[in-house]
Amino acid sequence: MSSSGRTLAGIRDSITSETRIAALTGAGISAASGVPTFRGGPDSLWENERPKDLATPEAFRRDPEKVWRWYDWRRGVVAGCEPNAAHLALPRLHEACAGVTIITQNVDGLHQRAGSPEVLEFHGSLWTLRCTACGHEERNEDVPLDLLPACPACSGLLRPGVVWFGEGIDTRIMRASALAATACDLFLVIGTSGLVHPAAGMAMMAGKAGAEVVEFNLEQGGVSAWVDLFVAGSADETVPGLVP
Ligand code: APR
Repeated sequence: MSSSGRTLAGIRDSITSETRIAALTGAGISAASGVPTFRGGPDSLWENERPKDLATPEAFRRDPEKVWRWYDWRRGVVAGCEPNAAHLALPRLHEACAGVTIITQNVDGLHQRAGSPEVLEFHGSLWTLRCTACGHEERNEDVPLDLLPACPACSGLLRPGVVWFGEGIDTRIMRASALAATACDLFLVIGTSGLVHPAAGMAMMAGKAGAEVVEFNLEQGGVSAWVDLFVAGSADETVPGLVP
């Protein structure tokens, strides 16, 4: 039961073709697909590696081979995964309302593979490569990837098109995400620890703008202070319950 006395079924039944929905998603939505999360489990990425060795511009300058080997491994893992029932529920929800804008922290591309039309990749994508010399950007789904891939335009070193710690969010994506969060009627928070900003701040922005905030997670996370209804459980089992 939410702080406003509503249940998930009650919220589902109140969704109309006018309802605007935005969803902040994190690694937990892809956990049931077999994609490792970053925190919280024995196989979580940051339980076994240090972000400063693999996910900073300094780490890449220091040892680009080490960083590329890790990102190539992650691309290989994701390439072997399929969207799960939580990913697949969101394009269905999109059809049942005025639209669902997904603000994802995930770099796996599973929302797009599930058919979601409005996806803002807040932390970039594993499938985008960017030249460190000329800025050339391209989509590349080769698995495995050549170690130290070279830019086709200038032969410079390509880097993963993800946002590393200490780097800023693309301003167009930041602006579109803030607009989606402040203009929605219903804001979903799915499978995120809510520890990394500015992404986690979107729930507060939506709550302050009057949206009803619903969180789906195994446990309450860093944004729970802004949540009206917490739905406990694995996202692939809980999120489909919101689709009219
Ligand atoms: N269903 C729902 N939630 C789940 C599931 C599941 N099956 N499995 C795990 N979770 C939840 C965990 O309880 C946790 O709250 O998903 C969350 C995963 O948290 P993190 O691993 O911290 O992932 P995320 O919040 O996406 O991390 C944010 O940190 O390392 C950076 O850039 C990286 O985008 C990432 C950011």
